[in-house]
Amino acid sequence: MNRRHFLMAGAAAGAALAAPMLVTRRAVAAEPRAPLPIPPLIDVDDGAGNTLTARAGTREFFPGVSSRTLGFSQDYLGPTLRFVKGRTAKIAVENGVDAPITAHWHGMHLPGHLDGGPQLAFGPGETWAPELPIDHPAATLWYHSHVHGETATQVYRGLAGMILLDDPEIDVPLPRTYGEDDIPLIFQDRLFQRGVMTYDLGHMDQMAGFQGSDILVNGTLRPALTVPAGLVRLRLLNASNARTYEFGFSDGRAFQQVASDGGLLPAPQTMTGLHLSPGERAEIVVDFSDRRAVRLVSADIAGGMMGGGSMGGMMGGGNGTVDTLDILSIEVSQRTARLSGPLPARLPATLPDLGAPVRTRDFTLNVHSGGMMGSMLNNLIGRDGQTMGINGSSYDMGRVDFHAPLGETERWRINADMMAHPFHVHGASFLVTRMGGQAVDPQTIGLKDVVHVDGQTEILVRFDKPAMPEAPFMYHCHILEHEDRGMMGQFTVG
Ligand code: C2O
Ligand code: CU
Ligand code: CU
Repeated sequence: MNRRHFLMAGAAAGAALAAPMLVTRRAVAAEPRAPLPIPPLIDVDDGAGNTLTARAGTREFFPGVSSRTLGFSQDYLGPTLRFVKGRTAKIAVENGVDAPITAHWHGMHLPGHLDGGPQLAFGPGETWAPELPIDHPAATLWYHSHVHGETATQVYRGLAGMILLDDPEIDVPLPRTYGEDDIPLIFQDRLFQRGVMTYDLGHMDQMAGFQGSDILVNGTLRPALTVPAGLVRLRLLNASNARTYEFGFSDGRAFQQVASDGGLLPAPQTMTGLHLSPGERAEIVVDFSDRRAVRLVSADIAGGMMGGGSMGGMMGGGNGTVDTLDILSIEVSQRTARLSGPLPARLPATLPDLGAPVRTRDFTLNVHSGGMMGSMLNNLIGRDGQTMGINGSSYDMGRVDFHAPLGETERWRINADMMAHPFHVHGASFLVTRMGGQAVDPQTIGLKDVVHVDGQTEILVRFDKPAMPEAPFMYHCHILEHEDRGMMGQFTVG
């Protein structure tokens, strides 16, 4: 048992005494599978009339039981927005809810005043209508509200959606018919109490981040997807508050990763398991030409963020064993897919050459700023201290943490204490050169904007978009409970 294991096991035991956090389990095992809903696709161009309206709604995640939700132009989540590289996307975001919101374009390369960070919150009845110059390689991105202190709650209730960025100049040899052989999959874990979606933070969740026991895909519990026989592209978005997935297929079949957060990989990577932290995206291509039904599953690594399965085992009622989550069932239709056979060995993508870094910055993600035991005690007894931070300080909207000169490559060394954290940077994609203390090949990882930090991590990053003090860029942990509690900083670029 390593140090983290020991500490987290102790914390979990304390929390279990202090709060009844395991009161609910699913009640649906025998329900028929609902078809996977595909969010409507909106082409956002430079014409008028593209609107997203944030509003309250209700949704029956369990038949006959309605939950209060939020969504963009629908009851829960929002439409998929398609942007085209080289064009301008005009979009009006209306705030029809009773609290301030923002629309952050997660992963896009936009100047700070268009980025939708916490400084750009707008109130009930107001509209924010940015014109976004689309300057980003083809990729799967997403949008979500980003109000400081409220991001976890608002995203949990539904203020998020997917973005597809297309590049008409590049002929991508991949499936690309939306909803047919190119499928958006938004994963979120949720807690249901008597069928009602509940956001109830136990003490453990305040420290480790919220974990629900049921997994929604595009807002639906354990749905079924029908695909054509042949190659199908799945766009995976982890829009969970804190849960990390380790995806695979129930029959152990191999698949190929073709893109990560910031776009295509230079070459497909073959694998049987894919790790996806909160905020991360991956595109995979799966061969369904054998016409066999299969399930997309994930290891239930509820406690895996802390470097092992101790808490996952507890949550699943087992003895340190890792449960498997049954997430999506896939059936193959009689139709034949547009593409079959092997993918080309190379994809039309080149990672940018960032050159040698001109400076190095160090970041440590802190679960506490005082002593480790003191912080744990505060959490266990529910005292709401400023326990989350980066380099010893919690986020302060009035403080700019540093300035990065435009167009200069920097090396960022990131470390985490207590547990692993998904580290996200606004305003640019980056290359990962070191993870878990080991050198890694950026070519196999691709362009990223979130990196799983578990042991020393290094990235190379260069900012090509400006951000003024009025609307700086954020860097933060994408465990939303950590971000809201201050594991975030902000910087200007110019
Ligand atoms: Cu997905 Cu700062 O955000
Ligand atoms: Cu972001
Ligand atoms: Cu974190």
